[in-house]
Amino acid sequence: MQTKHELIPEPIGLDVDQLPRPLDWQQLFGNANPVELEIGMGKGTFITEQARARPDVNFFGIEWARWFWRYASDRLRRNGCTNARTVRAEAAYFLTEFVPPESISVLHIYFPDPWPKARHHKRRLIAPKFMPAVARVLAPGGRIQVVTDHKGYWEENIEPTIRGAEFLDVVDYNRPGSAAGGECVGTNFERKYAREGRPFYAIAAVRKET
Ligand SMILES: C[S@@+](CC[C@H](N)C(=O)[O-])C[C@H]1O[C@@H](n2cnc3c(N)ncnc32)[C@H](O)[C@@H]1O
Repeated sequence: MQTKHELIPEPIGLDVDQLPRPLDWQQLFGNANPVELEIGMGKGTFITEQARARPDVNFFGIEWARWFWRYASDRLRRNGCTNARTVRAEAAYFLTEFVPPESISVLHIYFPDPWPKARHHKRRLIAPKFMPAVARVLAPGGRIQVVTDHKGYWEENIEPTIRGAEFLDVVDYNRPGSAAGGECVGTNFERKYAREGRPFYAIAAVRKET
């Protein structure tokens, strides 16, 4: 039988129950490099490609589903991404409880679960109630990037929430270097949905300087 400790995909995957509140990024990563955070990393395609390509940036992934968290953490380990750490947690809770204020240079959210049924819309992550957590963790000038394939989520929540956040200015969306030709970001879900011919919706915004 496995113990809880053996289930933690160390050294990349961290046990949320063992973490200090708030985290100390410099202590965690052993340097003062900027920190980019991805919510819902799935199989970890984006975070792994970015962590490999940009060793002077620290990457932190939050993933709720245990299987995906273990898969992505192991992938980061196999790729030698010493500048990456992950945790299995619910993102809004983790941002609020663990992430130091104004400490994130980029918040990446790619293909968040759309919860298409009307009675489940309240479970959507990107909604006005989530924005205080974003406002708390983004550094001045820090960026949030969101991509979805889901028109309803885009029109009902994502675009109005990001455009309506007083602390943000909408800017041009930056395609990360991991995106292949024609891609917005290059995650597993984007590649799967692109094969189905779905359109994508992308937005980026920066936190106003105070
Ligand atoms: C549709 S998948 C997209 C995965 C990946 N970003 C991609 O594009 O391939 C959404 C992922 O976000 C995770 N997720 C959804 N809500 C979350 C939350 N509140 N906190 C942490 N992870 C969450 C899910 O478990 C799932 O792995």
